[in-house]
Amino acid sequence: MPNRPTDQWVNPLRDERDKRLPRIAGPCSLVIFGVTGDLARRKLMPAVYDLANRGLLPPGFALVGFARRDWDHEDFGQVVHDAVREHARTPFREDVWERLSEGFRFVRGTFDDDAAFDRLRDTLLEPDKERGTGGNHAFYFSIPPDAFPVVCEQLSRSGLADQTEDTWRRVVIEKPFGHDLESAKELNTVVNKVFPENSVFRIDHYLGKETVQNILALRFANQLFDPVWSSHYVDHVQITMAEDIGLGGRAGYYDGIGAARDVIQNHLIQLMALVAMEEPISFEPHELQTEKIKVLSATRNILPLDENTARGQYEAGWQGSEKVPGLLDETGFAHDSTTETFAALALEVDSRRWAGVPFYLRTGKRLGRRVTEIALVFKRAPHLPFDQTMTEELSQNALVIRVQPDEGITLRFGSKVPGSSMEVRDVNMDFSYGQAFTESSPEAYERLILDVLLGVPSLFPVNAEVELSWQILDPVLEHWAASGKPDGYEAGTWGPQSAEDMMARHGRAWRRP
Ligand SMILES: NC(=O)c1ccc[n+]([C@@H]2O[C@H](COP(=O)([O-])OP(=O)(O)OC[C@H]3O[C@@H](n4cnc5c(N)ncnc54)[C@H](OP(=O)(O)O)[C@@H]3O)[C@@H](O)[C@H]2O)c1
Repeated sequence: MPNRPTDQWVNPLRDERDKRLPRIAGPCSLVIFGVTGDLARRKLMPAVYDLANRGLLPPGFALVGFARRDWDHEDFGQVVHDAVREHARTPFREDVWERLSEGFRFVRGTFDDDAAFDRLRDTLLEPDKERGTGGNHAFYFSIPPDAFPVVCEQLSRSGLADQTEDTWRRVVIEKPFGHDLESAKELNTVVNKVFPENSVFRIDHYLGKETVQNILALRFANQLFDPVWSSHYVDHVQITMAEDIGLGGRAGYYDGIGAARDVIQNHLIQLMALVAMEEPISFEPHELQTEKIKVLSATRNILPLDENTARGQYEAGWQGSEKVPGLLDETGFAHDSTTETFAALALEVDSRRWAGVPFYLRTGKRLGRRVTEIALVFKRAPHLPFDQTMTEELSQNALVIRVQPDEGITLRFGSKVPGSSMEVRDVNMDFSYGQAFTESSPEAYERLILDVLLGVPSLFPVNAEVELSWQILDPVLEHWAASGKPDGYEAGTWGPQSAEDMMARHGRAWRRP
């Protein structure tokens, strides 16, 4: 038997820092393009304040807004103030606000205005000198995707994209990352012409959610689940993102895009990759990306597509006690719009672990409830030594990761009903974040913006992941484009009949979360 070392070997290259300690961003400026928009107001500005409140921003920090409004620095400060008061997660503290707001700057301009970008360059020099932001700049594109090329070009022309050995320049882009594989490749080419891939941070805010990161903890920090995490025990996986809201006021963004491009291409395929991937060697960004890329490369649509996909468009109905209109009556949608508001597909992963296990992905608007969950539904026990009547109310075991709301995990299994008979019925064992931990979870945007400023890309999909997910979705979108109108479904229900039929063909049924 080999001798066991008595002293622990100390790797001189290992980072000895306690990883539980919060990491604070280094000196830098965050420039937000599209600072008057909905995303900036509801998510980005509040997240910046919350980070400052948690002490995670450096003293040398500046927030620079770029927009076409006729504002000065003070007007901009007031807009940030209102957004923070309305949407921040943490309490408002005057001292934090004062310190943060000293670093606010505003630049007025449109994207095709060379002089505005030259002014932006000059404006960024001020906090570099006065606040020591060190020439490090993150550019957040909270703007329509068709403006990405011109802003990239302007940043390049004005020299703002140039990094040196001592300074960094990063760009943050929001979905949609193209509308099909070809446009995604074009977009990647445009962005990568100006910013190298390791300076590009694509936001999929789902990856910033605590519950989504907990998929990695659940799978790779426990011995309990790994043995059953495969086709030996799992019958199928259902990934659902359901919303009860409609699309009133969002026609400009949504008409012609639809549920599959809006949600499946990014959030749901990313969730699937985290559930299906193999264990990474470490949580270093490239190790995680390698495993996600491997699993996405092995993912296929189950064919034929007309039997294994479903799409729908909501019609008038009741959402609780409220009567709501159908999509075609929502303001801004074309009266003959074929945009789907519900999409479902069946995927399989060609690997030893997952052969024969369908992954069902579905999303929709105006569904019965707002819920996002991942359910691993297990095979039935091969033999039940009970009288058949005793197990009539026993369904398949399931492990359900509740992504939102009511974040947590549920394990469903059979238990004996109290009494003299041996009746077995489903029960749930529940872990809830709210009860298990006293800390509240940071907002996804807090986590992601901090990671951008720290330069940690683990939670941001790289272009290979984006292109692979379009490769999966493109054939489905082409099939739908050639098949006319989506099926109708009544608002407040769980989608069109065709989605139920799709599952019935597989001898399965959608969960009703
Ligand atoms: N809202 C969300 O929850 C959400 C979620 C995921 C992804 N996204 C993505 O995030 C981005 C921003 O979304 P949003 O909802 O905030 O959009 P939005 O409300 O329409 O805001 C767009 C912003 O871009 C500015 N803009 C547009 N064209 C411009 C131009 N030529 N020159 C200067 N500024 C211009 C607008 O300025 P004006 O005010 O002057 O028009 C506005 O500030 C989009 O890419 C969207 O797809 C949004």
